[in-house]
Amino acid sequence: MPTRTSREQAPRFLVRPIIQKLQGYVPGEQPRISGLVKLNTNENPYGPSPTVIRALQAAINGRLRLYPNPTAERLRQKLAVYHHCAPENIIVGNGSDELLALATRAFVEPLSGLTHYALQAGAHAGLGQSIKRKKSAVVGLDGALAPSRYAVQYLNPGYSLYPVLAAIHGAWPKSIPLRKDFGLPSRETLRKSGWDLDAALTYITTPNAPSGRGYTSLELEQICARHRGVIVLDEAYVDFGPEHALGLALKYPNVIVSRTFSKAYSLCALRVGYFVGHPDLIDALQKIRDSYNVNGLGQVAAEAALDSLPYYRKNFQRIMASREHLSQQLRRSDFEVLPSQTNFIFVRPPRFPAAVWLEKLREQKVLVRWFSSKELHQFLRISIGSETEVETLIKAVRAILRNTEA
Ligand SMILES: Cc1ncc(COP(=O)(O)O)c(C=O)c1O
Repeated sequence: MPTRTSREQAPRFLVRPIIQKLQGYVPGEQPRISGLVKLNTNENPYGPSPTVIRALQAAINGRLRLYPNPTAERLRQKLAVYHHCAPENIIVGNGSDELLALATRAFVEPLSGLTHYALQAGAHAGLGQSIKRKKSAVVGLDGALAPSRYAVQYLNPGYSLYPVLAAIHGAWPKSIPLRKDFGLPSRETLRKSGWDLDAALTYITTPNAPSGRGYTSLELEQICARHRGVIVLDEAYVDFGPEHALGLALKYPNVIVSRTFSKAYSLCALRVGYFVGHPDLIDALQKIRDSYNVNGLGQVAAEAALDSLPYYRKNFQRIMASREHLSQQLRRSDFEVLPSQTNFIFVRPPRFPAAVWLEKLREQKVLVRWFSSKELHQFLRISIGSETEVETLIKAVRAILRNTEA
């Protein structure tokens, strides 16, 4: 029986301390404001293909009461044909987010509570960075396993979910800086920054988010070829660039490529993503996922998307053309626009701070994304909308500049 005192405690004390302290992932806003031009979460401005819509409509029938296929078997078979590999190389997830989280649970050893608190206490005392970088601190505290077994390593800036996944799992987060221009650091610089070839799990966002910068598969291979821990190449935006690195997942047994149907295939709402990698790694993830992790309509839609690739390829071309047009127009208005291989651009606006631009654009009913961190706060991330939305944004920018002329 709980004592009177423990029952009177605030319920939050019933939550594990590491979760109490956790800063959860902050997704972009999803407001429902009529007339709002929503360019903040990198959704595709064009809908799914007519084939997908028809397949979904046909699937809304008596079978909704039944569980979906537990392993997304047909979708995996189709993906295997598409990627010239075996279905055993593929796991499908409830969005790629689910798979990124499963990877932490399958490959990374959580720190014991004691070590975790010691690292946190170090952080409080201002020792965080030095302690976090010191393998010996982790070995000394946790003892039994090599420190790399606890490490979730990622290049920063990258997808801001990675550190949250590490924190949820109670892993050792290792943030390694990209170059100032968001390029991949040389091997030598990586080594000096503490890059761990044995880190249990390493995430690389490629093309990079939020900068949009693309990396060649040659550059990525230079990192993967020498690596010994698991590397996930997160290719969420790969369809909007000239190159992909899927071959690396089939060449190196420790490399996984992550893909999603959310962005390029306009299926954010249905939550379908997948990993391609060595069957041993894929099998480990299959063991720990929920039994029916991918909903039935999502499976139907993703299969139909693979049957309508010409439709989607046209959309990719259209989005890339709009991206170049928007970049050019913003450069004319004195924005610094970074080269992008994604369906968004990363820009440093002129005249006043990016956070002020965020609000001024919002007043004009255009929503973009701003990140407050020290590396990113001078920039705005703008998703590429439809041609009409892009023109609305350009007009809004010009109006703001006109209205604030000295
Ligand atoms: C780099 C990156 N990876 C993965 C995801 C997650 O995609 P999904 O919708 O498949 O969960 C996102 C979503 O914003 C992303 O930006």
